[in-house]
Amino acid sequence: MKLFRCRICGDPYLGSAPPSFCPFCGAPERYMVPAEDYVDLNDVPNLSARSRENLEKALDLEVRNAAFYFCASNCAQDPLSKAMFKALARTESEHASLICKILKVPKPEIKPDEKACLKDPKANFGAAHGREQNAVAFYSQAAAEATEDRVKEVFSALTEVETYHIALSEAQK
Ligand SMILES: [Fe+2]
Ligand SMILES: [Fe+2]
Repeated sequence: MKLFRCRICGDPYLGSAPPSFCPFCGAPERYMVPAEDYVDLNDVPNLSARSRENLEKALDLEVRNAAFYFCASNCAQDPLSKAMFKALARTESEHASLICKILKVPKPEIKPDEKACLKDPKANFGAAHGREQNAVAFYSQAAAEATEDRVKEVFSALTEVETYHIALSEAQK
């Protein structure tokens, strides 16, 4: 067994090989590195006003989406939808943690959002699709606007992960 770390969320993973996607933040395999090569890049000096604004907006988006998915998981009757929404909720919650590290703010508490989710899994997959599309559009713009390498890297990786989520919700709705 070897120890790997994700260059996006920083979380450690034990396995014989790097996973095809980070089990925590969903970043693809190319971001997984042997733990001894990992460098923490989240201390970004002099964040530009635009990057700070975009990171704050991203944090709000991730917290809202995680809260939506936790509720969708609680509401789902069938085990497959329940598990899928739980996995998505955890991924979005991990994204919120990562953004908090760069912003140097405490992570807000995330509770299932009873008002946002629609109870029926099919309707929730439809709503999830819209949420992920919004996230992708915003993150790709934020990546283009970022002048800091790390902020650009994080927004690019998030764009990629949320694009995979669109495909997942597309298949279920
Ligand atoms: Fe990760
Ligand atoms: Fe996310």
